[in-house]
Amino acid sequence: MSSPHPQHWDPAQYAEHARFVSDLGMPVVELLSPRPGEDILDLGCGDGALTLKLSQLGCRVVGVDASPEMVAASNALGLTAQVMDGQTLTFINEFDAVFSNAALHWMTRPKDVIAGVWRALKPGGRFVGEFGGYGNVDAIITAIEASLFSRRVTVASPWFFPRPEEYRALLEAVGFSVEHLTLLPRPTPLPGDIGGWLQTFAQPYTSALPAIERPRCISQIVTALRPVLYDATGNWHADYVRLRFSVTKPQTAL
Ligand code: BEZ
Repeated sequence: MSSPHPQHWDPAQYAEHARFVSDLGMPVVELLSPRPGEDILDLGCGDGALTLKLSQLGCRVVGVDASPEMVAASNALGLTAQVMDGQTLTFINEFDAVFSNAALHWMTRPKDVIAGVWRALKPGGRFVGEFGGYGNVDAIITAIEASLFSRRVTVASPWFFPRPEEYRALLEAVGFSVEHLTLLPRPTPLPGDIGGWLQTFAQPYTSALPAIERPRCISQIVTALRPVLYDATGNWHADYVRLRFSVTKPQTAL
C-alpha cells in the first residue's frame, strides 16, 4: 500500500463491520470452480473465511496477506497463511489457481501483482478474482475528500479501481488468456451505518487527521452520505462496483 497513512486491520472490527465481504465472495468461488486436491493461493486472504471454504472443498490452500493480524486470524482457523505483500509474491510454478476476493484494490502496483501471480501459477493455471472496479465507492470517496478538503488536507487515493479494458490490457500484457472480465455495479447493504464502514476501511484517509479531529470528520461524512446511501427502510448501503475476472496462464507458457 502506497498511502503514507497505512490501513490497520483489526479482525474483531472486520468481523463486526465487514463479514459481508466474504459472504458475498461465493460467486467468485463458483467462478473458480475449485477441484479437490488442487493447490490454490488465496491472495489477500484476510481473516481466512473464504480460504477455509476452499480448504473444506478439498483444496490445498495457502493464504497470503500483508496484515499480520489477519494472517494470525487465518492461522487460528487452522489454515496455512503467511504475511506477504501481494506486490512481491515469491512463489514459482506452485499453484493450479490463484484466487482473490476484495483485496486487489488495496494493491496499487497491479503490474507487480500480476507478474507475481503469473510466476506463482503452473502452466495452465487460473487466476480468478473480484475487486473494486471503476466507479467503486465514488460517493463515499467524494464525501471523504470534501470533508478532508474543508480541513485543508488532501490524501492520494489508496485504492486501485480500474476500468475493465485497463485491467484486461495489464493481464494480456504478461500473456494471460482472458475468459471472463466484467464490471458489475453491486450496491451492498451494510450491517450497520456507514460510520462503521469508514472506521474499518477508510483509515488511509482519516489517519491523515489528528486523532481528536477524526470522530467529527466521520460524522460530517456520514451526514453528507445520508441522502445518497441511506434508504427509506432505514438501511445503509455502500456504492460498490465489482470487477470480476477469470484468466488462464496458457499450458505452453514457461
Ligand atoms: C471494496 O471492497 O470495494 C472496498 C473495501 C474497502 C475500501 C475500498 C473498497
